[in-house]
Amino acid sequence: MKEMLEKIEQSALSEIAAGVSTEEIRIKYLGKKGELTKVLRGMGALSAEERPVVGALANTVRANIEAALKEAVAAEEARKLDEKLKKEKLDVTFPGKEIARGHRHPIYETEQTLRDIFIGLGFSIVEGPEVEYDYYNFEALNIPKDHPARDTQDTFYISDNILLRSQTSPVQVRTMEHMQPPIRIISPGRVYRADPADATHSPIFHQCEGLVIDKGVTMGDLKGVLELFAKRMFGEKTRIRFRPHHFPFTEPSAEVDVSCFACGGKGCRLCKGEGWIEILGAGMVHPFVLSNCGIDPNEYSGFAFGMGIERIAMARLGINDLRLLYENDMRFLEQF
Ligand code: DAH
Repeated sequence: MKEMLEKIEQSALSEIAAGVSTEEIRIKYLGKKGELTKVLRGMGALSAEERPVVGALANTVRANIEAALKEAVAAEEARKLDEKLKKEKLDVTFPGKEIARGHRHPIYETEQTLRDIFIGLGFSIVEGPEVEYDYYNFEALNIPKDHPARDTQDTFYISDNILLRSQTSPVQVRTMEHMQPPIRIISPGRVYRADPADATHSPIFHQCEGLVIDKGVTMGDLKGVLELFAKRMFGEKTRIRFRPHHFPFTEPSAEVDVSCFACGGKGCRLCKGEGWIEILGAGMVHPFVLSNCGIDPNEYSGFAFGMGIERIAMARLGINDLRLLYENDMRFLEQF
């Protein structure tokens, strides 16, 4: 039996050395029906003296084969890993794929700047519907059915009294209806007009409305707020100027210009030689509008303003055709 055990060990070890699959060897020699197991089963026939000697030898043989198998498995794994590493080369210095990164659209970017400036001045942001009642867009703002101001603000009608808002001013009325003074809000958003698209018109564009209502608010406050706004938006050297104007929902009303930030007011291509660029309409909220919204004009006063966001974006970017902002030509947009 001793020789048989030695033979088993020798042939197992030489098969391992020859590279026979380790799993095959394990089954052939150490498995339930394996050769070593067979020998151990025959040990019952041995004498009491022989049994421990043969048993010890069998254990040694099993341990030797297992050790050799373990080594072979480790060597096989190392070889496989080596092969894999050789195949899968990774060059960490290889330049990466460039990710096409976009940026904010100039209209949106301008709106964000506007929001930041007014939030900084203590205003909050409110929103109003783009599909609006005639009442809020016109009537409550002192623009009755036959008023000529409706001509310049012709819009798209959904029914006789529902339309796409032609201005953000209806948000003034909606705000005063459910907010008590002091009110300090701006409301940026889309507006619509039945204008064919050209260099300065678009059937859809953006405005930002502003409204401040409190006790003792004056035109001086309006000037102060707009001056601060203009300096933050266009640069510290910017000056503003008020020109008398008429809006049905403010009294007095003004159009407000900023000094041209390209030439400082001397006159250039951007300001068309004027030295000034018109950016918004403003005024003291008309007592009629205040009462319409349930605010007592004898107790409260306030100012309102409305500006075109595209106009501001165009001035800042130095472009003279509104359509460029809507065509989404990447060659144009990528410049900013
Ligand atoms: N809503 C006016 C327009 O679209 C702009 C405007 C003028 C808004 C005067 C105001 C204002 O709040 O006080 O032409």
